[in-house]
Amino acid sequence: MDPKIIDWGTLDFSYKKTPYRFHARWKDGQWDHGKLVEDNMISIEESATAIHYGQQCFEGMKAQQSKDGKILLFRPEENGKRLQESANRLMMPEVPMDLFLKGVMDTVKANSEYVPPYGHGASLYIRPLLIGTGHNLGVKTAPEFLFLVFVVPVGPYFKDGFKPIKLKIETYFDRAAPHGIGNVKAGGNYSASLLPVMKAKEEGFNEVVYLDAKEHKYFEEAGAANIFFLMKDNSFVTPKSEAILRSITRRSVMEVAEKDFQLNVQERKIGLDELDNITEAGACGTAAVVTPIGQMGYNNKIYKFYADGNEPGPTITKIYKHLTAIQVRDVEDTYGWTVEVK
Ligand code: PLP
Ligand code: COI
Repeated sequence: MDPKIIDWGTLDFSYKKTPYRFHARWKDGQWDHGKLVEDNMISIEESATAIHYGQQCFEGMKAQQSKDGKILLFRPEENGKRLQESANRLMMPEVPMDLFLKGVMDTVKANSEYVPPYGHGASLYIRPLLIGTGHNLGVKTAPEFLFLVFVVPVGPYFKDGFKPIKLKIETYFDRAAPHGIGNVKAGGNYSASLLPVMKAKEEGFNEVVYLDAKEHKYFEEAGAANIFFLMKDNSFVTPKSEAILRSITRRSVMEVAEKDFQLNVQERKIGLDELDNITEAGACGTAAVVTPIGQMGYNNKIYKFYADGNEPGPTITKIYKHLTAIQVRDVEDTYGWTVEVK
């Protein structure tokens, strides 16, 4: 893939090989310094825990260009901390923050020609990954680990970008048990979502919204994004649950909603019986950015939000514009969330 001939405006969210990736290895209780490599294939033991018992976790981040050509990351230390939380839950060694940031920065710098130029709605998606390697057979933690980072230039996760999507409220399949691993970024949560998402797509939906696994009464999150709603009483609400991923985008959206737009922000249990009170709905995440949810299907009934589900509502639009402007420093980043890759 030659960066000189990429049509940045039509990129989709798919894998493309870029020249360099970062590999660091853990063995005998310590991490090596890590290095950039060119080969995009990895070779691991046939008995590695990552491929038998799902001992692996990952992160998702983006690098974007500002108008003056700076390469910016968004809150990278938060991703580093979350990878550590995931590692702890899955009994893997934490990737030290210095090593995490070095892996991310070095990979972005080495592939800097692939950071989409400002203003094309594209970005360089960064995928840090931690996997259990080494020979093993019984269900126990791996003797060795590999931390790797690769990057891919991408367009929007939902192919139409900032256009309302249609989600199915999933009433049969669960994403995560209350005290399972739904709150960490483990691959198993995503393999569990493949079948429900395929079925939802066959029924004409873009994605699934999961309910709490215990009572099937409360909203949790979408397959690859957190969710939030604007309610008739003008409050901004987002689900409180121990089983959902702690989205960095959601925390940022909540701060922007409260501090920049003076909304009444509440993180609380949101019941299905509140569906009729929703005026605007959104999905948020690194890949999803902020995507309006126009319609939600629940038990054969379709609930439509702003403008009959055909247009993004005014509040989600202003939140989206402000957050994305902060991410590329089109407006002053008063929060100190952006970090330049030098
Ligand atoms: N929830 C799930 C299940 C996700 O996969 C993601 C994506 O990372 C998110 C939420 C959003 O998290 P973040 O905003 O940190 O990217
Ligand atoms: C992200 O937003 O970074 C994600 O991890 C979503 C993804 C699983 C494609």
